[in-house]
Amino acid sequence: MKNLFTGGLVALLGAALLSGCEKPPIDSVQNGFRGTGMVQVSNPRITSALDAAQVPPTAIPAMPAGGPLAKDIFKNVQVLGNLSVGEFTRTMLAITAWVAPAQGCAYCHVTGDDLSIDKLYTKTVARKMLQMTLHINKDWQNHVAATGVTCYTCHRGQPVPAKVWFTDPGPRQAKGSTAGSAGQNKPAIEAGLMATPYDPFTPFLLQDTPIRVLGGTALPTGNLQNIKQTEATYSLMVHISTSLGVNCTFCHNSRSFAAWDQSPPQRTVAFHAIRMARDLNKTYMEPLTTTFPPERLGPLGDVPKISCATCHQGQNKPLRGAPLLEDHPVLGPTVVAANAVPAAAVAGVSTTAPK
Ligand code: HEC
Ligand code: HEC
Ligand code: HEC
Ligand code: HEC
Repeated sequence: MKNLFTGGLVALLGAALLSGCEKPPIDSVQNGFRGTGMVQVSNPRITSALDAAQVPPTAIPAMPAGGPLAKDIFKNVQVLGNLSVGEFTRTMLAITAWVAPAQGCAYCHVTGDDLSIDKLYTKTVARKMLQMTLHINKDWQNHVAATGVTCYTCHRGQPVPAKVWFTDPGPRQAKGSTAGSAGQNKPAIEAGLMATPYDPFTPFLLQDTPIRVLGGTALPTGNLQNIKQTEATYSLMVHISTSLGVNCTFCHNSRSFAAWDQSPPQRTVAFHAIRMARDLNKTYMEPLTTTFPPERLGPLGDVPKISCATCHQGQNKPLRGAPLLEDHPVLGPTVVAANAVPAAAVAGVSTTAPK
């Protein structure tokens, strides 16, 4: 009787403990060799809400081809000059829907004023963003492939993307021998609330700090590479995993995290992404530091910057891989940054100059 009672209690306790776990059914997808445990586990009840939130906007109907070029009609078009006026206007409508649907054209243009004036900082930023988007789609195809990105990939109908980052100045530190905690023990959500460094961004997505855990020599040859560097690398890896909503085994065979020949191709795609993020932050975001108003800057006066989460927002492919460029080929690799390419190369653009 007593045994029965204890047994029941154990069962009850077990049930209580297990109720903290996720209720089945759980989905799993094998993405590596059999027997290596390279499986992505997901819970459809959790991921379906995320999927539902990732629906790209319906495209604005295409404009009839032909007609005069924007650069011949408008006064101050530095990036999109080789579009037909129709396609240019359609692009303005699209960026309004992608970035500032609630604010409208007035987010970048002063209502009632000449539309060519660069008065609002948002217009200056938007021009740089146009150049950045063209650059991503043209020069970073080893990451974004033909899928490409539009303003919507990051903005999702908001002027400020949901996921941006600033350099974290960290907690105030005592001086002397207690100083130099290497960024540890300040739990940060971005670093998975672990004891590893709280800023997974600045060293890796702005600076070119090597991402290494294994030393190149048998004996430790530098404190940085072997301890500090290891911990910082893990912070970055946690950021990458959570940004994409995947496990470490999406990119690594955990018997050797370093070995490229045992890693799935996604790791190579991610390798390029790290270089791309550095490039975007250095070439496009940092030069905007003095353009942004002070309230948009971080605690150290730095610009808002791009991480994996800015585009991915919890999914292995942003917006479940929706081919955003299909409806807006003018933001793709065939177009005309700064009027450099002849108009004939632009889809749907007339080659005859307006009279
Ligand atoms: C997110 C910012 C943004 C929004 C919103 C926006 N624009 Fe623009 N607009 C720009 C930028 C940037 C340029 C310059 C493009 C270039 O240099 O190639 C521009 C240029 C223009 C021009 C050319 C003016 C000239 O003579 O040089 C027109 C016309 C225009 N926009 C119309 C609109 C309309 C209409 C809307 C609303 C449907 C709109 N824009 C919404 C950023 C924006
Ligand atoms: C790779 C991600 C990414 C893409 C693609 C992107 N942006 Fe941005 N954008 C950002 C980030 C990061 C910021 C800084 C957020 C802030 O202003 O605090 C920003 C800021 C802006 C702002 C200033 C908003 C404000 O209120 O401060 C405008 C306007 C803007 N983007 C327009 C565009 C347009 C138009 C496009 C497409 C041609 C575009 N962006 C594409 C990441 C992106
Ligand atoms: C989306 C792909 C991706 C995911 C997910 C990922 N990593 Fe990585 N990992 C990489 C890439 C790419 C590198 C190499 C970066 C470089 O050399 O620039 C790397 C490097 C590493 C290294 C350094 C190996 C060496 O050469 O010394 C370790 C350790 C590591 N990852 C651990 C992890 C752990 C732990 C997780 C899960 C928390 C994880 N990774 C998740 C892509 C990924
Ligand atoms: C500018 C937007 C953008 C940024 C920033 C970005 N990605 Fe991506 N990423 C994409 C797009 C778009 C795709 C889909 C490409 C395709 O269809 O093949 C993608 C695909 C991937 C894939 C392949 C997924 C799969 O299922 O095959 C990996 C891995 C990945 N990204 C990792 C990263 C990592 C790691 C970072 C940060 C260092 C990052 N990405 C930053 C846009 C971005």
